[in-house]
Amino acid sequence: KARASSIAYGKLILNGEHAVVFDRPALAVPINSLQTKVFITEQSRKGIYLKSKYFFGNLEDCKNILPSLYALIKEFLIYIENPQANFQVNIESSIPEASGLGSSAAVAWSLANALNRYFGTSLNKEELYRFANISEEIVHTNPSGLDLITSSSATPVIFQKNKKAAKLQVASDLKGFIVIATTPKHGLTKNAVMQVAKSAQMHPFLYENYFNQIENITTNAIEHLTSGNLSAFGNDLTENQKVLAKMHLSTPKIDELLTLARNNGSLGAKITGSGLGGSIFALTENYPDAVKLEQLFCQAAANFTHIIALKEYTN
Ligand code: PMV
Repeated sequence: KARASSIAYGKLILNGEHAVVFDRPALAVPINSLQTKVFITEQSRKGIYLKSKYFFGNLEDCKNILPSLYALIKEFLIYIENPQANFQVNIESSIPEASGLGSSAAVAWSLANALNRYFGTSLNKEELYRFANISEEIVHTNPSGLDLITSSSATPVIFQKNKKAAKLQVASDLKGFIVIATTPKHGLTKNAVMQVAKSAQMHPFLYENYFNQIENITTNAIEHLTSGNLSAFGNDLTENQKVLAKMHLSTPKIDELLTLARNNGSLGAKITGSGLGGSIFALTENYPDAVKLEQLFCQAAANFTHIIALKEYTN
């Protein structure tokens, strides 16, 4: 029986979310310990079946439940001229959904890649992004592409729309830990992106200024990670958060978690992803501080927490 599989990673935007939609650069890292896996297996029964946390059944019946995945698979089948294929797609994921950690992009990328492998279509990465983007457009309306690039990358990424993504060369002796905490409220990227677009239309000069400030911070962060200046990078996070807060992307819970980070030895902390819910992360100098902060986030009813060592990104 024919079979194929693919994995993709969760992602963490370090700097530049939202501004990236308006052509500014952003900095993001894959989270290798959070993964989505897609398995495609040939079936003896007729038809196409999909199995995920939310759905198990014939593809045609998931049109309303998982419209983004339905559209991706359908478009792929049209592209390969509708073969009489009988297969089942299994999707497994350890990335929390709608939390700013890139779960939708990871599913879209691994699904497109697994279909490509299953049918032996030899699409290149650019072509696969286009298929994965069919799903992202349904989930996010106007995705910058940052999530897809990062969730399929093995290294930190410097991303700017319509440019080839560059690899971030992190200082080889960079220490420090990132503690992620997810608030109970889902961060719906679509809503946050729409809110920013409306405000930018109403106050173009103000928002241009915000995006420029974020661009400067991102450029500084790249420099600080490259040279291994952890405390300066922490400061970049704090400065980035100030701008995101002015853009009204914070929530009381986000502010509560950020204050906890500030009062407990963090070098800097900010929203990651779209905001209005979803996740934050804090930077600490050492592992005990990271663990202490993770405990505090849990006590403050974070839905999900995760620690990453920055040395994972050095090579
Ligand atoms: O919340 P997430 O993980 O979907 O990240 C969104 C990042 C934005 O910059 C807000 C939107 C985008 O398409 O880049």
